[in-house]
Amino acid sequence: MRKVTLVDLFKHHITRKYLHRSGIHHAVTAAYYAFDLALQRNVSVDFATKAALLHDIGHYEWYNNNGEWDYDEYRENDIHAIKGAERAHKLLIRLGENRSAAKHIAVAVLLHTDSYLPFPLNGKQTALQEVITLADNKDEQPKGMHHYKQMEISEAIKHLHQLDLKVDAVLAKQESPNEMPG
Ligand SMILES: [Fe+2]
Repeated sequence: MRKVTLVDLFKHHITRKYLHRSGIHHAVTAAYYAFDLALQRNVSVDFATKAALLHDIGHYEWYNNNGEWDYDEYRENDIHAIKGAERAHKLLIRLGENRSAAKHIAVAVLLHTDSYLPFPLNGKQTALQEVITLADNKDEQPKGMHHYKQMEISEAIKHLHQLDLKVDAVLAKQESPNEMPG
């Protein structure tokens, strides 16, 4: 049994405070994509879904005085992956995640994009980090419109609970691979 679930992460006040800025819809959708990609690539579905859910938690308020977002200006000066890695790590540790998992998940958040780095990450990512980049890109829309899609909190919790069950099923199978179905 995992110590920390996706629903635990989502319900925490740190997540509540920061995740809405980049969009709950995008976070939940990326977590679902990450599950499938992780399965295909033999990556931990637990780490991948958590990192994908939290990958954009470092975004800060980007709205200008007109209530709009200057996407180009934001992109140019953005360090959300750095802030996100720190927030994700703090959140995971507070919830009791083991330190090794918290580190891998936080570093996957840190390196899910190279938009703030002076060099490209192509070919330098671990399989987990690559899964988060792919899951993020799969839901991306021009001009950052994926951040504006709406999802109710209750709906997000329902989807994440379903995804938690899927993750638990994969982990149970990995722990006892030879068990015959009853
Ligand atoms: Fe994203």
